[in-house]
Amino acid sequence: MSKGRVLVTGAAGYIGSHTTVELINAGYDVVGVDNFSNSSPDMLKGIEQITGRPLPFMELDCSDRDQFAKVFERYPDIAASIHFAACKAVGESVQQPLKYFENNLRSLLYLIELSTRDGHGRGIVFSSSCTVYGEPDPENLPISENAPVKPATSPYGRTKQMSEEILHDCVTAYPSLKVIALRYFNPIGAHPSALIGEMPLGVPQNLVPYITQTAAGIRKELRIFGNDYPTPDGTCIRDYIYVCDLAKAHVAAVDRILQVKDSDRYEIFNLGTGTGLSVLELVNHFIQATGVNLPYSYAPRRAGDIVKVWANPEKANKVLGWKAGTPIDDVLRSAWKWEKKVRGIQ
Ligand code: NAD
Ligand code: WQD
Repeated sequence: MSKGRVLVTGAAGYIGSHTTVELINAGYDVVGVDNFSNSSPDMLKGIEQITGRPLPFMELDCSDRDQFAKVFERYPDIAASIHFAACKAVGESVQQPLKYFENNLRSLLYLIELSTRDGHGRGIVFSSSCTVYGEPDPENLPISENAPVKPATSPYGRTKQMSEEILHDCVTAYPSLKVIALRYFNPIGAHPSALIGEMPLGVPQNLVPYITQTAAGIRKELRIFGNDYPTPDGTCIRDYIYVCDLAKAHVAAVDRILQVKDSDRYEIFNLGTGTGLSVLELVNHFIQATGVNLPYSYAPRRAGDIVKVWANPEKANKVLGWKAGTPIDDVLRSAWKWEKKVRGIQ
């Protein structure tokens, strides 16, 4: 029996595709939407191959209200939405802030309006980010949800902060609305089947896709940005979380919204492992886990990088009954398997 209908915006994207798989495996009916501005329809085929069933899907732009409304017309049984659809390139957001405000904020405003307009209570799970914490004060590490939100360092980060505030205000105004904001740390890896994974366009900005493309010979070497930070080995520290573990947390969040009647109507959870790894440690794990040669060198610091941040995930562990447990070597092997599949490497 179905546990209910969940709308997934950005379903063809990196985290959206993995979450769609986990929702279906957990017994939800899903309808996906995407405009393929940063993804390909191939990802939908991957989802269908993994789950063994067709995925109800509509190609549409969530920042166009009339288009977006069509999914609620066709699927009036939508009980909750997970809102992944957004632009996410930090550097581009500095160059083109209006693109980010338009796309990320409009989509959210329409989603809230469409979710509440008939007085029908529909839940929203929102993709937020650890970027809202900025550079944490060292005494706040590992960082928990009640740590201060620092002024955003990019328009992208600002859209996440503003989105959280908008959702909070709307929960106050609309008694039928329930929201869970999930603050992701650094999602990495791919589904073990290698049928879905991360598909960065152009030169990857994020560490793991750069590592796998270097290992595949597409990039000459990995440049490690800065080895003179105040950390044990001089490189920056992050909390790398496996995308399939992250996807399962979304299922737990939807379960909570739909099944726990007396939960707070606006909740925030950190989604991380609770362990910080330096860039160098991650690189060494990759080499050890895959046995592949990875040329790298040290380069100057990258502007705007945070020195160290990792999550205190206890609230999600306790309240959502969820824990990120996949060992890092398995995660990195999954990323490498995906890269090899995409490049046709044996
Ligand atoms: P992604 O780009 O792979 O996925 C986003 C999907 O949304 C893409 O398929 C894109 O085509 C689609 N999309 C964008 N605008 C749309 C619109 N107006 N209408 C319909 N579809 C639209 O990104 P991702 O890594 O899967 O990230 C998903 C969400 O998680 C984003 O909101 C992102 O900001 C957030 N997030 C990501 C990370 C990360 O490191 N990947 C970290 C924290 C938060
Ligand atoms: C990780 C570490 C780099 C590439 C970004 C966004 C953030 C969030 C997650 C969405 C850093 C180093 C990287 C390379 C390197 N996204 N690095 N060489 O910066 O933690 O966060 O993604 O919300 O908002 O800013 O992730 O993967 O870019 O970098 O040395 O070629 O790897 O300096 O220390 P980051 P990242």
